[in-house]
Amino acid sequence: MGYAFEKYFAQYGENQIHLEWLITHPDFRRRGAATRLCNWGRSFASKRGWMWTVIASPMGKSLYEHLGCHLVGTETIRVHGEDEGVDIFMMEESYENTSLRRFFIALLATLGSLSLGILYFNFRN
Ligand SMILES: CC(C)(COP(=O)(O)OP(=O)(O)OC[C@H]1O[C@@H](n2cnc3c(N)ncnc32)[C@H](O)[C@@H]1OP(=O)(O)O)[C@@H](O)C(=O)NCCC(=O)NCCS
Repeated sequence: MGYAFEKYFAQYGENQIHLEWLITHPDFRRRGAATRLCNWGRSFASKRGWMWTVIASPMGKSLYEHLGCHLVGTETIRVHGEDEGVDIFMMEESYENTSLRRFFIALLATLGSLSLGILYFNFRN
């Protein structure tokens, strides 16, 4: 897991929120609990223009796909000396520059409203 993190996500440094553990009690699954927790983290990342990263289990993969994360790599983990292994999935969602993008959209919208206001004022006078 450490190797996988280094290989795929270390490059983002501090500019990421990395989901370490996520487990819903079996009696409460498929009721949206994990979605709500993930959305909290995604919103935290989005506000800062960070990456949201996770090393998913086969069970978690469906959840993160449902949330719109994309797959950036697959690795197999196995106990030393054993043939059987489990695939783990490197998944991420990018919010880089979203804050900047939002700023420019707001700026354009303000400039647009100002131009319309000036046009209207000139038209009336
Ligand atoms: C993965 C896990 C955390 C999901 O928790 P949850 O609270 O049941 O998830 P949600 O109710 O928010 O699921 C949202 C969506 O994710 C997908 N999903 C969740 N669990 C799924 C499963 N077992 N199989 C297929 N899709 C699944 C579905 O699209 C689901 O939407 P739907 O119920 O409307 O079909 C839970 O199954 C669990 O604790 N598993 C064992 C631990 C584990 O593998 N954790 C992930 C580590 S990365």
